[in-house]
Amino acid sequence: MVKETVAGDRLWQWRQLARQAAIAHQVSPAEVDWLLQQGADVEPLLLKLGPPFPPEISLSRSLADLTRLWQARLRDRVPVQYLVGRVPWREFDLAVSPAVLIPRPETELLIDLANSAALQYGWPVQEVSRWADLGTGSGAIALGLASVFPLATVHAVDWSEPALAIARQNADAAGLGDRIQFHQGSWFEPLAFLAGQLQGIVSNPPYIPTSDLTHLDPEVARHEPHAALDGGPDGLDCIRHIVHTAPHYLKPGGLLLLEMMAGQAPAVAQLLSNTGQYATVQIHPDLAGIERFAVSVRR
Ligand SMILES: C[S@@+](CC[C@H](N)C(=O)[O-])C[C@H]1O[C@@H](n2cnc3c(N)ncnc32)[C@H](O)[C@@H]1O
Repeated sequence: MVKETVAGDRLWQWRQLARQAAIAHQVSPAEVDWLLQQGADVEPLLLKLGPPFPPEISLSRSLADLTRLWQARLRDRVPVQYLVGRVPWREFDLAVSPAVLIPRPETELLIDLANSAALQYGWPVQEVSRWADLGTGSGAIALGLASVFPLATVHAVDWSEPALAIARQNADAAGLGDRIQFHQGSWFEPLAFLAGQLQGIVSNPPYIPTSDLTHLDPEVARHEPHAALDGGPDGLDCIRHIVHTAPHYLKPGGLLLLEMMAGQAPAVAQLLSNTGQYATVQIHPDLAGIERFAVSVRR
């Protein structure tokens, strides 16, 4: 909905001032364009080409509103995604709020890895199957799985009811609500009825050591839910539980895909091998070359 029409010159000037303020507050000035695009539906090409702007530009959010949001970004270090309440992730335009972790770009790769592992290990993608997304948050992974496995039912679990409300909203908005079932509870607890039936389990669980939480960027430490971050004393509490419990829920040959923090790969690979329940354990890097994902196949 268009709320305001502003003169092109005025918008350009607003952008320049906002960028200067960003630099002064050690925030990336590129976020100003992100705010204008995601928060006010300004055409990306317009910002890329620069002046002269058209004499009049329509904004879906008023300039006064944008100023208020930008001040909150700089003063309170609120992530820009929470300010506009949405984030693009894979092909989805996801709603986010401080009840959910902002889905990260690197997590998008988990979906590609699930797809390629299914193909590699002989699980036809176009087949009826059951998958689980443990700790679904915004529902990002569940939506990604439902999209690449068109006949799958995805069981998305989270401890947080407010997070599940956002995830349901995202699934409905993407037209995937009929293939994703949401469950409130701790990890496998609400999935007892699926023992031995899952083709794949995917999780990006909390994995940050508790003592590191206070050293995170203020955007994360002050605004993202601690229950989405805190992985216990060594960061591996949730991963340990999932690694040990997943074999009971997977079919023989079923897949377990986990995201982890930089530096955790050797410990996670060891945890997986020590169970004796997984035939293969592979570690994959993210786009920055950080060992970020473990892919294992249940014996
Ligand atoms: C790192 S976030 C991941 C969110 C989302 N899957 C993503 O990748 O953007 C971890 C999620 O696990 C959930 N969580 C934490 N402890 C849990 C538990 N015991 N059982 C189920 N979910 C839990 C948190 O609420 C949070 O949504």
